[in-house]
Amino acid sequence: MLMSEVLILSQDEVQSCLPMGKTIQAVRDAYVAFAKGRVQLPPVVHLDVKQYNGEVDIKSGFVEDFGIIGTKIASGYYDNHKLGLPPGVAVIVLMDLKTSMPIAVMDGTHITAYRTGAAGAVAADVLARKNSRTVGIVGTGTQGRMQVLALKEIFKIDEVWAWDILEDSAERYAKEMSERIGIEVNAFAEIEDVVRGVDIIVTVTPSRQALVKKDWISEGVHINAIGADGPGKQELDPHIVAMADKIVVDSLAQCRKIGEIQHALGQNLITENDVHAEIGQILIGEKPGREADKEITLFDSTGLAAQDIAAAHVVYKQARENGLGHVTKLLNT
Ligand SMILES: NC(=O)c1ccc[n+]([C@@H]2O[C@H](COP(=O)([O-])OP(=O)(O)OC[C@H]3O[C@@H](n4cnc5c(N)ncnc54)[C@H](O)[C@@H]3O)[C@@H](O)[C@H]2O)c1
Repeated sequence: MLMSEVLILSQDEVQSCLPMGKTIQAVRDAYVAFAKGRVQLPPVVHLDVKQYNGEVDIKSGFVEDFGIIGTKIASGYYDNHKLGLPPGVAVIVLMDLKTSMPIAVMDGTHITAYRTGAAGAVAADVLARKNSRTVGIVGTGTQGRMQVLALKEIFKIDEVWAWDILEDSAERYAKEMSERIGIEVNAFAEIEDVVRGVDIIVTVTPSRQALVKKDWISEGVHINAIGADGPGKQELDPHIVAMADKIVVDSLAQCRKIGEIQHALGQNLITENDVHAEIGQILIGEKPGREADKEITLFDSTGLAAQDIAAAHVVYKQARENGLGHVTKLLNT
């Protein structure tokens, strides 16, 4: 490809280039680069498109390690179903860090789904007990699926317990996922039943009020709090955040504003000094991960542009190698 050429990749092409194993490695690399200060991430731009019941998040940045500038424009348009359209889309644009020349435009929907699942697995790898076998899923949508697919790459999961605000969604999930991953997946009507006594809890809903109660939390559990990625979003009783032996975030700058910890900070149940680490600091050995079986650990994920850039970079390299996509000349140069 010439310097002025851009590779356009469809959702199917992106999907074929990004298996979960590679995504997990890419997300790990992204967190490491972030911890080493080789990433620049400006704050997320949020647009409310009230006239069409929609919202748009623009996440951007660059990662020196990959030599890439990336921007993801991701939407949630909640009336799209009336038009037979998906409830949101994401597009990623990559540019070369050295020259700023655009190199790729690709679907970002699959990348968002996979890189978020992968984030949960990367965190659980250093924070959950190594012998974790059971996973409790709160929210059986896209991320309810992705989180389990990713955790299965790291742990010998033999049971998944699932709850959703829509009972039939949890039941559909149980049927689909047990066939897809070949392990026992059961749906429960009470949220408490998927949280009590499980090894890893994953919360993946857009809830704006606490769903998981403090009394249900057992010693030694690891919690991946994934759903709260915007102001006001909340899935955990803030006392759970306060009781955790180790609170780990993807980025403190983001989580203090839009993550699960925003509520515990707001109610003065914790201070920022109580945050044990950003996940990358654990991955580079600057801070310890889990140190004892009985520790309660919490990972608060809000999603970093660096994850998108890392995964999109993997896709770009693989697509070039496989001769996939449509090459076009965007500029006159
Ligand atoms: N941290 C990150 O990097 C990251 C990345 C992607 C998505 N997310 C967030 O994760 C959450 C889930 O995303 P998804 O793509 O799986 O969405 P989804 O719509 O596919 O699934 C959400 C599920 O939650 C259930 N639900 C909806 N409202 C609820 C409520 N008030 N209480 C309890 N359950 C409710 C729905 O029935 C659905 O099954 C969203 O908040 C999304 O913004 C975070």
